[in-house]
Amino acid sequence: MSGNTPFFRRTAVLLIWLTVSVFLMYSVYENLISNPEAKEFLSRKTGLKRELRLPVWLTVMHVHVIAAAAAMAAGTAALTLLRADRFRKLHRWNGYLYVLSTVIVNLSSGYMAPYATGGKINSIAFNAINIIWFVFTLLAVLAIRRGNVREHGDWMLRSYMFCYTNFIIHAVHRIAHQGFGLDYYVSYTAGIYGSIAVNLLAAQWLIRLRRKSL
Ligand code: HEM
Repeated sequence: MSGNTPFFRRTAVLLIWLTVSVFLMYSVYENLISNPEAKEFLSRKTGLKRELRLPVWLTVMHVHVIAAAAAMAAGTAALTLLRADRFRKLHRWNGYLYVLSTVIVNLSSGYMAPYATGGKINSIAFNAINIIWFVFTLLAVLAIRRGNVREHGDWMLRSYMFCYTNFIIHAVHRIAHQGFGLDYYVSYTAGIYGSIAVNLLAAQWLIRLRRKSL
């Protein structure tokens, strides 16, 4: 291990927390305080096959944002500050919070998916994310129940990457729509499918990187 590793690790942890904090504060402010009725986002929902009950959809979306923020914060803490080798008990309770939050995100996402902007092609992708995320999180829990720390870490990283789903969807959407002038809906679909690819590839890359540093 290089002598610079603790410095690089600390810098990486700081950068991750900075990115996550800014994103979460922006997301909570934008969706719960500044624009709680999601007017601009909802104005793009045209030709829905089933009637959208606005008060219910908005409440579910607000719960979704809070649970997603909790999942992202707990996931980041588990992989950085509250590591099991130093804070075993806290790591475990933080893990329960992570699992509970992911279940709430999945349930709220399951409610919103049939009304997804862009129609069926996007509903399918959101449901696929729900299933993949649930399975990865379950495999992480089962691995640690068997006492397999390494496997637990790998599945947790794969699961954690899905906390970045919304971030990646909006980044890809903005680049494709505003940067390259692609159609709003095509860009949104590219964002959703792109987020699946980015999450899976980034997790594998991080797992390899971590193995090399051990
Ligand atoms: C930290 C992570 C996440 C945050 C902050 C977040 C936030 C949001 C927000 C603010 C919306 C409203 C529309 C928008 O502005 O995008 C939304 C919609 C949605 N989210 Fe998430 N989300 C996260 C993760 C996820 C994950 C992992 C899934 C899938 C399991 C998911 C599924 C959905 C679905 C299906 C919708 C409705 C999309 C539509 O109507 O087109 N989200 N999310």
